[in-house]
Amino acid sequence: MKRPFAMLTATAHAVPKRAFPNSEFASIGIDTTDEWIHERTGIRNRFIAGEGESLTSLSAQAAREAMAAAGVTASELDAIILGTASPDRLLPATAVEVQAALGASRAVAFDIDAACSGWLYGMQVAEGLIATGTYETILVIGGEVLSRIVNWKDRNTCVLFGDGSGATIVKKSTKGRGILSAYMRSDGTLADLLQREKGAGYAPMTPEILAEGTHLLSMAGREVFKNAVRSMADAADRALDGAKLSALDIDVMIPHQANIRIIEATAKHANIPMEKVFVNVDRYGNTSAASIPIALSEAMAQGRVKDGTTVLFVAFGAGFTWGSMVVRF
Ligand code: ACO
Repeated sequence: MKRPFAMLTATAHAVPKRAFPNSEFASIGIDTTDEWIHERTGIRNRFIAGEGESLTSLSAQAAREAMAAAGVTASELDAIILGTASPDRLLPATAVEVQAALGASRAVAFDIDAACSGWLYGMQVAEGLIATGTYETILVIGGEVLSRIVNWKDRNTCVLFGDGSGATIVKKSTKGRGILSAYMRSDGTLADLLQREKGAGYAPMTPEILAEGTHLLSMAGREVFKNAVRSMADAADRALDGAKLSALDIDVMIPHQANIRIIEATAKHANIPMEKVFVNVDRYGNTSAASIPIALSEAMAQGRVKDGTTVLFVAFGAGFTWGSMVVRF
């Protein structure tokens, strides 16, 4: 059997109510400027979850919209796969809470912890499940409430991240449309460069850990930057090779929205002009696993991705994890 096995039928997204523009960091005592953040990252704004908002609530909202657009009911879902690095509880998986919220009682539900590559990994797991012939309709979500794991005293990281969730309905491929190629990689030797070091198995939570904030997200920014550019460039090549396509065949590239400079470097390497690259990092910041499905949801709503469009997806995140996919819609 040959690809495509699986196609993406609908994608929707949800973000918290509260917008948090760069200008607001001054009000919480962070020594930064809109100019610094925008120049280094392209980010102007992000959304931050407030009381009553959670990964489960945002993901269920995005899922309901995607299901409505795809004409799928909760009882038709065979699986729910949620890519996230910021679950609502440490145990159990947030996917089961989304399952309960949707009333999708038949669905098997589990999380994938692949940081910013979570949605892309989830898509490839869904593709594999569909290829078995046992699963027909799968909900793949990438969602984060990073505001709850970010160190709000660390200007190196707190300005970068945002909250949100994106949900995609994946079904069996028809008419030769769907995932034409896919690629996934990981490198755990670099785990220390982007991590939440303490507060879990190696060093269970103590008042000292809580006070020093080593249970929160920390990052070696420059090293992450270099690895992201290198790995995303390689991943773009792999997906094109796998699909036996050239850059000219790609209508739209949707990269992980971490930083405009990483996006531009990846596009340049792949020979894809920026006019073909979907960018919304300015409005959402880095929403990790949610960034690609939020971008896809917007690209579909704007008509930039429609039937017949060929899209190159590229992701990179903590782990490190990275990967890519070419999809014909
Ligand atoms: N405002 C003002 N100044 C700041 C800020 C800030 N928010 N943050 C850092 N600085 C200062 C630093 O303290 C440093 O000052 P110093 O020279 O006096 O020590 C100076 O700015 C330069 O800091 P660098 O870290 O060298 O700045 P750099 O040009 O590397 O940009 C950035 C930092 C934007 C974090 C960059 O390294 C980057 O984008 N890295 C990739 C991060 C990323 O995208 N991670 C996510 C990818 S994976 C995933 O999505 C999970």
